[in-house]
Amino acid sequence: MSLSFHSCIVICLDGPAGSGKSTVASLLSSRLGWPHIDSGGIYRTLTLASMSKIGKGKSAEEFGELFSSKKIKPESLDCKIIMQKTNQINYIGSRDIKSEIRIPDVTSRVRYIADNHEYRDYVNSILRSFTKNQKGLIVDGRDIGTVVFPDSPMKFFLETSPSIRSIRRKNELQEMGCETSLKEITSKIEKRDHEDRTREVGGLRKAKDVVMIDTSELTLDDVVSRIVSHLK
Ligand code: CDP
Repeated sequence: MSLSFHSCIVICLDGPAGSGKSTVASLLSSRLGWPHIDSGGIYRTLTLASMSKIGKGKSAEEFGELFSSKKIKPESLDCKIIMQKTNQINYIGSRDIKSEIRIPDVTSRVRYIADNHEYRDYVNSILRSFTKNQKGLIVDGRDIGTVVFPDSPMKFFLETSPSIRSIRRKNELQEMGCETSLKEITSKIEKRDHEDRTREVGGLRKAKDVVMIDTSELTLDDVVSRIVSHLK
């Protein structure tokens, strides 16, 4: 078994929404000086670009129908994912879209892009391309250790109790100026968990050789230190 991809060590961080993957990944990135790739951010960028191209529909379901009928090629969406030192920047055309991809309208529509095999292959090839000329990389998502880099020996699965995940997501949305009740957030997270876990290809699953980390009772520093100790 090869220990890495193109001699690059890939730390795979998988887990459900709100398990702290992105925060842990950015801390690891600062500590190790390796780039952090947010695969969900790429799915979200493709979703936002599709919404701009075909309209967002009156509902997420209507968008899903539009998206499947239009058969847009991912390459035609004019999205670019660039690494600037250790930071990922997502572009649609020449626009850096920043936190726009985190708005609830994108979150409720991303599943249609994530369910599409052609789009998954497209995202996976972008993710693999980032290993070139890199010593190490931190990639977070749902299928990073199972599908994208199955040979990586550094696979982690972050779990957290659903109530903590909902509170974290409420705080994140509040920071973006979106006020939503905890009840609504919990039900949306449960729905997305179900969609992510039951997705035929690229669903959220635990790789056989994954290290499980329950982040409910740990500080972020504890989680990062655990991962770094495996690296040593
Ligand atoms: O940040 P959050 O946990 O809400 O989700 P994300 O990582 O931004 O991912 C958004 C969505 O993209 C997920 O709910 C999945 O449907 C999809 N996704 C995926 O299918 N595979 C990945 N490797 C990453 C995300």
